[in-house]
Amino acid sequence: MKLFLDTANLDEIREGVRWGVLKGVTTNPTLIGKEEQDFLPLVKEICSIVEGEVSIETASDDPDLLIRQGHEIAQIADNAVVKISISPNGLSATRKLSDEGIKVNVTLCFSPTQALLAAEAGAHIISPFLGRLDDIATDGLRLLSDICEIYATQGYQTQVLAASLRHPVHVVEAARMGADIGTMPFKVFEALVKHPLTDAGFKKFSDDWDQAKPHLGELLPSMQEA
Ligand code: E4P
Repeated sequence: MKLFLDTANLDEIREGVRWGVLKGVTTNPTLIGKEEQDFLPLVKEICSIVEGEVSIETASDDPDLLIRQGHEIAQIADNAVVKISISPNGLSATRKLSDEGIKVNVTLCFSPTQALLAAEAGAHIISPFLGRLDDIATDGLRLLSDICEIYATQGYQTQVLAASLRHPVHVVEAARMGADIGTMPFKVFEALVKHPLTDAGFKKFSDDWDQAKPHLGELLPSMQEA
């Protein structure tokens, strides 16, 4: 499963890239608004930092504007993906843009029927929002499992992007179910690497190394500094 950050924060994205595991970024109007920066330079910068795909959301449900915004977003960078909310107009724009070879991420998906429609419209990505379903006492992981099963059975090429992930268990379950991509806030991304036994184990090994070092004779040059 490819790991994406759900953010428009440049420091978080640079840190994810530094780890060597970040494969892409998703943004939305809320995340863009939080950064309080000029839109176009910000999204251009994100696209230049990340090698993988960057989803940039349209801001309309008007049929003509969706197409125009889709064309303009696709021009921002080679790795820009046009994000469109699911609706009749959104599906129609997805069909048109996809037929032109433009990659579309159909977003705000909360049902298997919406995912079926997005795949039939030629979407490159479908984004089911797990956390927002959990928030209203509905099983978000169940939706993801249904979509993965339907897409596998039907042989759709549309990638399943597990979105609105709120904690590491969401990430683990999304990977287990076969999601192609998981997008998450930086705090969830950071939590993936942490384990108290790793911290305790590293501290013990460091202490033992410090004690043993004076008696270990010849060391590697880089170990003399540690
Ligand atoms: C994904 O593309 C969305 O931007 C995102 O995952 C929404 O997450 P939220 O429900 O935490 O806002």
